[in-house]
Amino acid sequence: MNDLSNMIKVAVVGGEGIGPEVTTQSQRVLNWFAAKRGVPMTLREAQYGIIPYLATGKVLPEDTVEAMEQADAILWGATGGPETKEVPAAARKAGSLLSMRSKYDLYANLRPIVADPALAESAPLKARILKDVDFVIIRELTSGIYFGEPRGIETLADGQRRGFNTEQYTTNQIRRVARAAFELARTRKGRVCSVDKANVLETSVLWREEVIALHATEFSDVELSHLYVDNAAMQIVREPSQFDVMVTGNIFGDILSDCAAMASGSLGMLPSASLGPVDKFGRRKALYEPVHGSAPDIAGKSIANPLGSILSVAMMLRMTLNRPDDANLLEKAVHAALANGARTADIAEPGAKKLSTVEMGDAVLNALEKVAGKEREHA
Ligand code: IPM
Ligand code: MG
Repeated sequence: MNDLSNMIKVAVVGGEGIGPEVTTQSQRVLNWFAAKRGVPMTLREAQYGIIPYLATGKVLPEDTVEAMEQADAILWGATGGPETKEVPAAARKAGSLLSMRSKYDLYANLRPIVADPALAESAPLKARILKDVDFVIIRELTSGIYFGEPRGIETLADGQRRGFNTEQYTTNQIRRVARAAFELARTRKGRVCSVDKANVLETSVLWREEVIALHATEFSDVELSHLYVDNAAMQIVREPSQFDVMVTGNIFGDILSDCAAMASGSLGMLPSASLGPVDKFGRRKALYEPVHGSAPDIAGKSIANPLGSILSVAMMLRMTLNRPDDANLLEKAVHAALANGARTADIAEPGAKKLSTVEMGDAVLNALEKVAGKEREHA
């Protein structure tokens, strides 16, 4: 039996749009690991978004705040959609995903891009381009133009309006995310590519100088290269297999990670982890979420791809639950399900049978049983 004090606390927040549907499937997967592999965790479900707003006036009600506050890991679904227009801007902002990233200081956003050969047919890029694609984008998530002040929309003397935002980075903000990238690279192929726009922006000039300085003093064993963001976007579709770890600022990372999703076959496949600083007890707050967002056009139809959320659980197993073998097992199971032909609409090649969200969850759970069984035979 697990002692309750050793339990890792997971808050499950499905949110809006397709968030609840895909999160239900990844929660089944988490439950499987608790029941079948003895992963010591407690799950607490909490609501977010339009539903609690209509009931309580808050998109992020007290109960959810408490669940997230106490959690070691948050499994997050999605936020956004047309009905959110019913929520006044201030109420939405107070409980927004951006405010949570900021509140928990989740500065290192990891977005792994892995192309599964089984998806070569349905992928928008050619199979030869997708060969051996396996890299991680580390996006700075708590600063840059997303949070810089001043910002706003003002009316000028001549009656025109002017919108403005501020791109900004400090030494420490650059160094801590660069450190995360160098440390990750050491566990992989040992290469970091830093992406900026240092030919135009001062923030990027500083970014590049700080990355170079940190590299020289602490990480000279890691291979470091630099790309301007426009070139990086091109290289990601031209030859994505050249990358190992890519580190960049908030807005560049937002754009490049959607672009890179095409090098994995589909946006629906992409998981992510957002990590905070390590506290004095060695704990690190983390939020795991699929990259795809709320996809309101397909919400409620049970056709969304739950694999981005399920693969986010694999990241949670590896990074918060400290279960690398279980993380590998889950990734193998997803791979096996795909190799067996399991496809949701977004990754279906012409003529392929399309599974519902729940059926894809079933396919992964079946594959988990099989892969785990095989591993026991070989043990
Ligand atoms: C992402 C999303 C968010 C972002 C939106 C929903 C605010 O696009 O996580 O990439 O821009 O960071
Ligand atoms: Mg985005």
